[in-house]
Amino acid sequence: MHYLDNAATSWPKPETVYTVMDQSFRSLFSPKRGTAKAARLGANQLQAARQTLATLFNVANPERISFTSGATHALNLAIQAYPWQAGDGIIISAIEHHALSRPVRKMAREKGIQFFVVPYTDALPFDLTAYESLLKSHPEIKMVATTHASNVIGSILPVAEIGSLAHQHGKLYLVDAAQSAGVLPVDVQAQHIDMLAVPGHKSLYGPPGVGALYISEAVQLNSFIEGGTGNDSGKHAMHATPPDGIEVGTIPLPQILAMAEGARWVQEMGLSKIHHHEMTLLAQLLSGLQEIPEVTIYGHTDVAHKTPVVSFNVMGQEPKVVGERLFDQYGIALRAGFHCAPMAHEAIGSIHRGGTVRASIGYYTQPDDVAALVNALKKLLSESFSRV
Ligand SMILES: Cc1ncc(COP(=O)(O)O)c(C=O)c1O
Repeated sequence: MHYLDNAATSWPKPETVYTVMDQSFRSLFSPKRGTAKAARLGANQLQAARQTLATLFNVANPERISFTSGATHALNLAIQAYPWQAGDGIIISAIEHHALSRPVRKMAREKGIQFFVVPYTDALPFDLTAYESLLKSHPEIKMVATTHASNVIGSILPVAEIGSLAHQHGKLYLVDAAQSAGVLPVDVQAQHIDMLAVPGHKSLYGPPGVGALYISEAVQLNSFIEGGTGNDSGKHAMHATPPDGIEVGTIPLPQILAMAEGARWVQEMGLSKIHHHEMTLLAQLLSGLQEIPEVTIYGHTDVAHKTPVVSFNVMGQEPKVVGERLFDQYGIALRAGFHCAPMAHEAIGSIHRGGTVRASIGYYTQPDDVAALVNALKKLLSESFSRV
């Protein structure tokens, strides 16, 4: 198999991630519960995991990082547990994933908030003046929320500039780092980020079912899930203060420690080394696809402003059919369709094409994986997709 679906989930994982997951599942108990030594050891490891993520994202106080079941859970928390009043506003971008846009739409339906969408165009991907004029003309806006990078076309948003604008106007900034954590530098202080949602299973090379939410001291959220926190057990009321007020119920310690091991591995390997490898393969992929006249690439092709994610279509072919043929005949695993981000497909004009075929590169991708995709497309085209 040639695995080119790392924007969905990275595969394989570093060997040490599998080891940590296995060993912690066998030998550690969930912290905050029980008196066994394994529970106390678990508590120490949990603290170390928080510190590892804090170092990666330049978070001053690791206790402001709470573990969640993934980026979707983290974004839902950040958006749904915010104390919205009817009429409050939020700015989002035109290329958001459902994990961010659906909770925003839900708050619009149920709490009466307004949402403003900053448009995307290939020529001017992220118009900072559009953010600025919305912030100036709508004092009711409370939060700006954007993805750091598109999961469909890989375009990178200028998060530091957007965060700075949000802060100049006294607004909170929420960033969905699902496509950037472990790919690009993410620094909550330098990028003016108040809340950061992170998945474990993508470029932090951890397992599925785990992620994290950083919440700065400037943010006060309501509780999202109520239950046992391991603290205040004798009281009926629960405090929503992170991390305990977020990590409600028995937490998935093996997944958390495996994610932290992935994050540790990313730091040991070095973001710049990972990035260099991925950008080299991205350039190979883009130039290979550009050689094929029947292939249309969406979004800009400037590697300096992209994560290693490429969306394309083949003239006259349904993306889903192309995806299936690539796997069935050539063992190339990628993703075809809307990638849970129809807003992005509306923005790039692929919504009526059934979305796009998306190839995405990770640290374990090799040049022959990229070459296999380009060659397979050429072969399928030479057969004129006759077996469709
Ligand atoms: C941009 C973006 N946001 C959020 C998510 C959701 O992440 P998770 O799978 O951790 O819930 C994804 C995953 O595909 C994504 O690409």
